[in-house]
Amino acid sequence: EKSGYRHFMLKEIHEQPRAIADTLAGRISENKAEIILNDIQLSTSCLTGIDRLYLIACGTSWHAALVGKFLIEKLARIPVEVDIASEFRYRDPLINSRCLTLVISQSGETADTLAALRQARTQGAPVLAICNVVESSIARESDGVIYTHAGPEIGVASTKAFTTQLIALVLFTLFLAQQRKTLADSQRQELIAALMSLPRLVEEVLQLDEAIEQTVRPYLHARDFLYLGRGNQYPIALEGALKLKEISYIHAEGYPAGEMKHGPIALIDEDLPVLVLAIKNATFAKVCANLEEVHARGGQIFIVSDCDCSDLRALAREYFIIPTTHDDLMPILTSIPLQLLAYHLAVLKGTDVDQPRNLAKSVTVE
Ligand code: M6R
Repeated sequence: EKSGYRHFMLKEIHEQPRAIADTLAGRISENKAEIILNDIQLSTSCLTGIDRLYLIACGTSWHAALVGKFLIEKLARIPVEVDIASEFRYRDPLINSRCLTLVISQSGETADTLAALRQARTQGAPVLAICNVVESSIARESDGVIYTHAGPEIGVASTKAFTTQLIALVLFTLFLAQQRKTLADSQRQELIAALMSLPRLVEEVLQLDEAIEQTVRPYLHARDFLYLGRGNQYPIALEGALKLKEISYIHAEGYPAGEMKHGPIALIDEDLPVLVLAIKNATFAKVCANLEEVHARGGQIFIVSDCDCSDLRALAREYFIIPTTHDDLMPILTSIPLQLLAYHLAVLKGTDVDQPRNLAKSVTVE
């Protein structure tokens, strides 16, 4: 069943090129100019009439929602609120029929997410779901569903479900932008072309597997890890930290790199590994400055970057280069080395990678 892999998690990490290709299949027009989302079930008038979106989820799916906010606000120009499902109901949210609610869930059975969905419906909001499990409760109770085609995810730590959720969010955003005419055709086509080359780029990132495996030993006894990112890489820092916590039981935190100086910088010493997502985009120079601050205080720096630069190399203990693509899609590529890092550290620690203690694959209690 594990197709020769030692754990389901590793198998699922390596399935990502296929899972992404399957999630894209049939959703791009033949001339590669438009997005087709027949399963969405919401009318054009509904999509053009909304004035706000609520993205609601738990855990890894909530991290996908945080990336979704960047995509939707930038490309479809609608304000987005992101909520943790267990918080949503209890804060008396301002929601009505002009607020599209998008719930994200791999399993489609997460009790908190289901309860939030029901609350949104009660208040008259149209509900759309991004889901991996066909005919799950969340899929059945939503007005429309965009299925991720990740295939069954057995490992408790979500990997291919996350990257395919990001793909579904990009498809949905482009579709929304198409309906609302907020994006030039050429920009949409550029993103579509980038989407189509993603499975190949993900394959390339996966080649880092062995290099990452070989770097983890010195960090076996680390008590904490810090993950830093800015912009659309900040949710990936959160996701990298969650992966590490879940399966290796090492405490980890994700932080927006610019917030370091407002507190967490006090934690940095020679024993603290700090992973920095340094992507060549508008905030690259700022991230490099944050990196230098960490270096000056002796932190052990891991860099994940799409830029091979000698200045950064000089600061880094470990340096992982990934290919580059459209900045809106970079979170899909950067999440993969973080999955591999968590996996190899957990294997070295000897934890039960696929069934970590105290966790269930789907959390059906509130
Ligand atoms: O099935 P869901 O996407 O609704 O699950 C949400 C979370 O329970 C889930 O993402 C959890 O955080 C994972 N174990 C993360 O790896």
